[in-house]
Amino acid sequence: MLKRIPVDQLSLGMHLQAFCGAWLDHPFWRTQFVLNDPNDLTLIRESGVTEVWIDISRGLDVKTGETAVIVTAEEIPAPPPAVQEKSSFNDELKRAAKICAKGKEAIVSMFQEARMGKAIEAEAAAPLVEEISNSVMRNPGALISLARLKTADDYTFMHSVAVCALMIALARQLGLDEQETREAGMAGLLHDLGKAMIPLEILNKPGKLTGEEFALVKTHPEEGYKLLLEGKGVSDMARDVCLHHHEKVDGSGYPEGLNSETMSLFAKMGAVCDVYDAVTSNRPYKAGWCPAESIKRMAEWKGHFDPLVFQAFVKSLGIYPIGTLVRLESGKLGVVVEQGEQSLLKPKVRVFFSIKSQACIKPELIDIARSPEKVAGREDAAKWGIKDIDRYWVGDKA
Ligand code: C2E
Ligand code: SIN
Ligand code: FE
Repeated sequence: MLKRIPVDQLSLGMHLQAFCGAWLDHPFWRTQFVLNDPNDLTLIRESGVTEVWIDISRGLDVKTGETAVIVTAEEIPAPPPAVQEKSSFNDELKRAAKICAKGKEAIVSMFQEARMGKAIEAEAAAPLVEEISNSVMRNPGALISLARLKTADDYTFMHSVAVCALMIALARQLGLDEQETREAGMAGLLHDLGKAMIPLEILNKPGKLTGEEFALVKTHPEEGYKLLLEGKGVSDMARDVCLHHHEKVDGSGYPEGLNSETMSLFAKMGAVCDVYDAVTSNRPYKAGWCPAESIKRMAEWKGHFDPLVFQAFVKSLGIYPIGTLVRLESGKLGVVVEQGEQSLLKPKVRVFFSIKSQACIKPELIDIARSPEKVAGREDAAKWGIKDIDRYWVGDKA
């Protein structure tokens, strides 16, 4: 039986079932365990958590005489889904920074546990998927853009967070229901779990892989699939995406050489989201391509992606995704800082350079939808010698 109790009544020997309150305030990744370590107790007391669920059939009960049990239950009741109010890009960026940081920690732990042979618990990741999904619903561009900015070393972990967010945005664009959207997010979060079984020296190798190394890396979909088979609470969809995110519609992918007919919609979604985040990220062996350049190149590849899924993906990000350097018809250069509400061709742009005078100008935000200006096209930052263009949209917010 489960009891919900205030944190000050929590003691060693109790079986912790779940924390109450915001996931972002939880000090632990795994919630279900017997409290044996006094340090853990201190950590929980010092966190923002005020109440917890304990399972008295698997650990100590509260002492008789202590009457602070809030409720007892057989199952933890699911909280009603909160309606997500839209938030401004800058506000959401701050929240997204926190979610990304916590999410990365969670994925690091998940990979560690997989490496140690512990069965993966998908429920433990559900609150993270929920946070990411809520952020995408409040403002789709913020977390997706932020998760693209990685340091070379944390790629594998942030990549999971990024693909989770991209899958959620794509699922919404495709009109999938709430449940499928969550599952798609979870599948994105878990898709590269098999990389836990690949040595980090190979994953972070600052150069091209040898044939032997690449062959080893290519086992990660099957390794991940095995981990997810042993795991608890993992959906069939997550296993499918994990095993099949490197398949291609022309049948030339791996591990099974599936094709357009035999790949599921979700595997096709996984393939697009995975590659987009991979090619837009800085890696120890190459600098990431900018978002618009990545979309252009991916659109030119024949036989990799499902065209309809790819089209929906582009719609979910925008023709000029956040962080794209664009030229306006007036001859100014700027960076896309937010999508337009009505048209993908009318984003908000922070201009900072004049082509006419070949010099930087005082940065100014132009909402193309409310201005006589038009976007003339995408520009290559390197061609103009512009470095670190992300600072124009991320600023000091994250
Ligand atoms: P990943 O880095 O997460 O990349 C996922 C997929 O994105 C790749 O699957 C590939 O389809 C696409 N992709 C990533 N970067 C590029 C690129 O520069 N050009 C093109 N055309 N596509 C790209 P793939 O190729 O099966 O690779 C699987 C994994 O193998 C990669 O996952 C990465 O971890 C590793 N890997 C591949 N090439 C290298 C390399 O040259 N050096 C290192 N250190 N690792 C590599
Ligand atoms: C791919 O489809 O993964 C690569 C194709 C290319 O780089 O042209
Ligand atoms: Fe992969």
